[in-house]
Amino acid sequence: MFAATILTLFPEMFPGPLGLSLAGDALERGLWSLEARDIREQGIGRHRAVDDTPAGGGPGMVMRADVLAASLDAALRPDDPRPRLIMSPRGARLTQPQARAWAAGPGLVVVCPRFEGVDERLIEARALTEVSIGDYVLSGGEIAALAILDACVRLIPGVMGKTESGESESFEAGVLEYPHYTRPREWEGRAIPDVLLSGDHARIEKWRREEALRITRERRPDLA
Ligand SMILES: C[S@@+](CC[C@H](N)C(=O)[O-])C[C@H]1O[C@@H](n2cnc3c(N)ncnc32)[C@H](O)[C@@H]1O
Repeated sequence: MFAATILTLFPEMFPGPLGLSLAGDALERGLWSLEARDIREQGIGRHRAVDDTPAGGGPGMVMRADVLAASLDAALRPDDPRPRLIMSPRGARLTQPQARAWAAGPGLVVVCPRFEGVDERLIEARALTEVSIGDYVLSGGEIAALAILDACVRLIPGVMGKTESGESESFEAGVLEYPHYTRPREWEGRAIPDVLLSGDHARIEKWRREEALRITRERRPDLA
């Protein structure tokens, strides 16, 4: 089973949106599990400190390697096979193939930093993989972790029905998805394209393929 362990200063942010809808149903059905651990449990002293000032000076605070390592070591099972991720704008950007690969595995351990980030030695010593969800800066790793888990969980076998298996979705075949329409047939003077009402499945497939390619070329020439 896909088992997610999250290390965070805000465990109450989990499951959050993942407790609802598709992911929430799957969580209830036991198709995946989620454990959110409070990094502060391994914090230092009376105030359970988890951060300190940056070596060399500069703004903000840095999360301590010793505290995070203790939190991680307490969370890992013996011979834990799960990939260990740390959320970071410096990391490799999440892709659909990567989400699919993780979804097929034993789960993920995800460290969610706050402040300026973490002491670099933690990443080296615990061989963490830095992962980003895009080229912008969030105030903490939690929302990135939720996005990554959402992308993975919906791909776990049994979470989505067969009809919505996700195989024709954006990025799956290296292209963006074709446009969708539903009733009413005409809305604010705009009609559903005739081909979709033709009942000719071969023509519909061809139209969808062509539209997907056109949209991909226009919007994401890097994918086409
Ligand atoms: C305020 S940010 C720190 C940004 C860092 N000082 C920098 O310039 O790269 C705090 C934390 O939010 C998380 N975070 C921010 N943006 C992210 C992104 N695009 N993807 C993944 N995690 C992100 C990371 O865990 C980061 O350590």
